[in-house]
Amino acid sequence: MTNFHDKVIYQIYPKSFKDTTGNGIGDLKGIIEKLPYLDELGVDMLWLNPFYPSPQNDNGYDVADYTAIDPMFGTWEDFDTLVQEADKRGISLMLDMVLNHTSTEHEWFQKALAGDKKYQDYYLLREAQADGSLPTNWESKFGGKAWSKFGDTDLYYLHLYDKTQADLDWRNPEVRQELYDAVNFWLEKGVKGLRFDVINVIGKDEQLSDADDGVGKKLYTDTPIVHEYIQELNRETFGKYDDVVTVGEMSSTTVKNGIDYSHPDRDELSMIFSFHHLKVDYKDGDKWTKAPFDFLELKKLLDEWQRGMNEGGGWNAVFWNNHDQPRANSRFGDVDNYPFETATMLAQTIHFLSGTPFVYQGEEIGMTNPNFNKIDDYVDIESHNAYQELKNRGMSEAEVMEIIQEKSRDNARTPMQWDDSKNAGFTDGTPWLKIPENYKERNVESKRVSQSIRDYYKQLIQLRKEYKLIQEGSYESILLGHQSIYAYMREYEGQKLLVLNHFYGDEAIIDLPQHLLKKEARYLLGNKGERQLEEKFMMQPYETVAFLLD
Ligand code: NOJ
Repeated sequence: MTNFHDKVIYQIYPKSFKDTTGNGIGDLKGIIEKLPYLDELGVDMLWLNPFYPSPQNDNGYDVADYTAIDPMFGTWEDFDTLVQEADKRGISLMLDMVLNHTSTEHEWFQKALAGDKKYQDYYLLREAQADGSLPTNWESKFGGKAWSKFGDTDLYYLHLYDKTQADLDWRNPEVRQELYDAVNFWLEKGVKGLRFDVINVIGKDEQLSDADDGVGKKLYTDTPIVHEYIQELNRETFGKYDDVVTVGEMSSTTVKNGIDYSHPDRDELSMIFSFHHLKVDYKDGDKWTKAPFDFLELKKLLDEWQRGMNEGGGWNAVFWNNHDQPRANSRFGDVDNYPFETATMLAQTIHFLSGTPFVYQGEEIGMTNPNFNKIDDYVDIESHNAYQELKNRGMSEAEVMEIIQEKSRDNARTPMQWDDSKNAGFTDGTPWLKIPENYKERNVESKRVSQSIRDYYKQLIQLRKEYKLIQEGSYESILLGHQSIYAYMREYEGQKLLVLNHFYGDEAIIDLPQHLLKKEARYLLGNKGERQLEEKFMMQPYETVAFLLD
């Protein structure tokens, strides 16, 4: 089994990384062009979001063909070159496998619509209930109901996401075989990593029924059969290789399930993404609200997952950002007054935790939310649905736009800011999504803040490779109730790492426990330069610092 505890994975959103053709959309050639940049950063693997043929209603997560490349992203030759050129630099590729649903433009769905029984059995088609209501009362995660009319029949098909993303019936062995074939296809092409989209919702009940809460999540999330399917997926595909790294995206999961999904003895996945820590600025659990983040809750959740997964032998992917999340530094810090401190403090918090760190493109140069003020500047389907829903609730345009600015998934999807030339050096054409205004000072070439943040990331990535303590150490939080500092300790073979992270823009003091002060402390890394460890440890705004205790 390949080691993934010492790796750092970099996520590329191909559509927004680098355009080489002038069509305003990033492409595979653009990734090839930037391999030296990624190599210099020190990352081991590149997770690429979907680049398969797709109507792009959900930016590629509506896959119309699992084993092809959308020409707008490039050719097979480009793909092969990318694999080879990355390999020369010791970098491998992780592809996104969207196996819960297909686009309604997928050939299978089209054949089903045309009346082919075999393909109708690939999807979850049901009749209306006796009283004429939808087959179940479940809600779609993108707003509205989870069922739509199946052509001009009396049937409905299930879609947990957009209505153009039809859920597959995993109970059908033929469906599973088709999906395993698709996964094997990419493995044979030299792919060494797989990211499985919303994989813990594939196991729906055989009898689909109304949910008491009118939402339905419990009836299809983390069901026991999901574990069986993942074990089969493992056996039939990547389990045949000993150098493939896998990560499952887990919607609303639990520590107990997280352990089961990622414990090496269970032959499921290498690790999982969980999202509870990224909901601490949802008011009453509703994403589409504006609220300051709850710091104590954030710490409680990080701590619960660190401790729980460590004790149970599971493995976390650790991250703040991805293509579905607003930029973490806009969310948990102060990007106007402390852009360097915010970005590096957040990075250090994650990189020294137990788990495999994921860096999302642009995070390493301090990219921020763009704060567009017109809904038409946003492309994302979920944002447009939310805009309508909030408007329908009677909110004013200004109130709605404030929420969209904070919560839209497009916050992360704006094009990579390479330099201060037109369109931030991303494209010669018109970018598919607008470039944030701050690209002139926040870009890869900029000698000021961006470069310092990037240098810091390089150090964090190197330190993980150097220290078994960072890769394998146990985890323990310190003074979890502290109002503004998240302090934790890692330990491995008698060596300790103390990490102190200050999440606010004022000064704060932490009274460190005596047993830590008895040790010999060596400064390892911090964003305010070298520090001495002392009992009443004063921290500057958004400061982070780590000490080795021998
Ligand atoms: C999770 C993906 O990350 C997100 O972008 C997508 O919309 C949903 N899964 C549905 O595939």
